[in-house]
Amino acid sequence: MDKAAAAAEAVIAGARLDAHKLRADFPIFEQRFHGKPLAYLDSAVTAQKPRQVLDAVRDFYATSYTNVHRGVYLLAEQATERFEGARETVRAFINAASTREIVFTRSATEALNLVAYAWGLDSLGPGDVVVATELEHHSNFVPWQQIAKRTRAKFRPIPVDGSGELQLDALDAIAKEGRVKVVANNLVSNALGTINPVEQLAAWAHEQGAIMVVDAAQGAPHRRIDVQALGCDFLAFSSHKVCGPTGVGVLWGRAELLERMSPFNFGGEMIRKVTVEETSWNELPYKFEAGTPPIGEAVGMGAAIDYLTEIGMEAIEEHEHALAAYALERLADVPGVHVFGPPAERRAGIISFDVKGVHPHDVAQILDWEGVAIRAGHHCCQPLMARLGVAATNRASFYLYTIPEEIDRLVEGLHKVNTTFGNGASPTLGPQ
Ligand SMILES: Cc1ncc(COP(=O)(O)O)c(C=O)c1O
Repeated sequence: MDKAAAAAEAVIAGARLDAHKLRADFPIFEQRFHGKPLAYLDSAVTAQKPRQVLDAVRDFYATSYTNVHRGVYLLAEQATERFEGARETVRAFINAASTREIVFTRSATEALNLVAYAWGLDSLGPGDVVVATELEHHSNFVPWQQIAKRTRAKFRPIPVDGSGELQLDALDAIAKEGRVKVVANNLVSNALGTINPVEQLAAWAHEQGAIMVVDAAQGAPHRRIDVQALGCDFLAFSSHKVCGPTGVGVLWGRAELLERMSPFNFGGEMIRKVTVEETSWNELPYKFEAGTPPIGEAVGMGAAIDYLTEIGMEAIEEHEHALAAYALERLADVPGVHVFGPPAERRAGIISFDVKGVHPHDVAQILDWEGVAIRAGHHCCQPLMARLGVAATNRASFYLYTIPEEIDRLVEGLHKVNTTFGNGASPTLGPQ
């Protein structure tokens, strides 16, 4: 057995979850692309959906669907019960103190905008400092940059070094610039896979009298989240990255902060009383859920969280970690491949890389012809790309259904990229 096969076998033997078996839950893997089985190495962009989620959504629409919190008839009660049941599932998933603190939004992006607008517009002003990081996704960067501009607060991203690690020794200088009011950071970087020191940043934020906003869009799919242990004040994630439907996300916030904030959207359901002169707001979390919420989507997200919880978040994290270590080892043997980001022990199952002399889009195109799906682009992290001195990278990302053979196919595909482009020969275009 060669070294690669032995390493792949070690990944399988060491795993607490059986990814080969779990794949049978995901109908997408029954299809072929360019005549080849799908090696889906783009789970950071969105996760595939197991039958359990598809069935739950179908069952909800077939048996229990109507609008929630409105009707007095039995069907309406059942729909509301399943919708609110999903809220309780989310609460337990992130260990929040109460379902009052769980706001359903359209996405992680909307959840982060909600905090930036509803908290930021009323809480920030000249002399205040808004701290983000150079490796934020645009969703946790642009809202803070723009709200800082509108309130005339300073916007100061924490710099990263050449391998994408946060430079925490910059914090002292940032604190000297004014009153630090908010620190925004992702738990796991979507571009590099770095696991960020969020607990440490939350402690620093609180020493400054600031709030800590955690973007867990990449953290929630991959590791156990405990909002109380993280010590943050707000946390956001999206259903579609945890194997749930698109169109629903979660904002968790400390009840005392949510209570003090103005609503983000106005309309039905978020009100207590409306007169021509004045309007008062509904209780938490409904004050932040104007209009018909994403009902079927939330039910689907609840089913997805049940699915992940049954497998075990620790087992998922371990599996991805083993895959990342395996991929790093195998990629090291491919000529011209340069990997960005931290060593295996400091990263989740996300690997960004480039291939010398080949544009990432060409790499992704050739891999696609091999049935290997990866992402090529700036990953909504243009400030990070600028810091790394590249316009784009290739990114392979893994999840509970990823198997080492898919990484082998990635590596084989990269050798093909090299033979196509490596010696300066014109590329042979088209699926082979
Ligand atoms: C770290 C991070 N934050 C935020 C988002 C935004 O998530 P959504 O597009 O679901 O709102 C993403 C999506 O890729 C992400 O990776």
